[in-house]
Amino acid sequence: LIDGPLKGQHVLVTSGPTHEPIDPVRYIANRSSGAQGTAIAEALMRLGAEVTFVTGPASVPAPLGARVIRVETADQMLRAVEKALPVDAAVFAAAVADWRVAGASNSKIKKQAGKLPTLEFAENPDILARVSQMSEGRPKLVVGFAAETDDVIANATAKRVRKGCDWIVANDVRPETGIMGGQENKVTVVKADSAEDWPRMSKTDVSDRLAAEIAAALA
Ligand code: C5P
Repeated sequence: LIDGPLKGQHVLVTSGPTHEPIDPVRYIANRSSGAQGTAIAEALMRLGAEVTFVTGPASVPAPLGARVIRVETADQMLRAVEKALPVDAAVFAAAVADWRVAGASNSKIKKQAGKLPTLEFAENPDILARVSQMSEGRPKLVVGFAAETDDVIANATAKRVRKGCDWIVANDVRPETGIMGGQENKVTVVKADSAEDWPRMSKTDVSDRLAAEIAAALA
């Protein structure tokens, strides 16, 4: 472990999408490369933190030096997160599917000419909200993300209150920004009494700045 301002602090990071099975060969998922979550874990470790990294099936490699726990579904992610607690701080960068398929089939759904399957959904647990609202053993700092396309500050502010987390990092995911899956990010960081617009910068720079703010908040 590196000697830095986060030495001795244990931080949990969730990252990547979740995959929710329809049957053994099909799933629904959110779009997420895992790049921002991985960059945050790496930045936290550069400041000396011990990182537990709970990740869905991401397309970028998991951060070296973190304790990596791989999951597929939101339910599995919730259980892995609960197992990793207590931690000093938690950053929820995963793009968790809001719904899973109710009554997912254990055998492959057969294609039948002229007959279309219908899917029914069930609500997934909101992992960020659960951890934010823990009455005992809550991390000292809980950071959530919000992918927004418009009214970024208003939506992120409402989300922060609704979920009960301390900070929301809102990113502008309008397709024309090229942020989804790209190297850069443009974020607004909403706290209890501020909303800071950060300039467009690399996901690494966003992560370094966020890690520095997390270190300051835990100090
Ligand atoms: O409600 P929304 O999906 O916009 O919230 C995004 C934030 O909540 C992210 O930090 C995401 O990781 C977290 N989240 C979660 N569990 C869910 C849905 C979202 O932890 N089921």
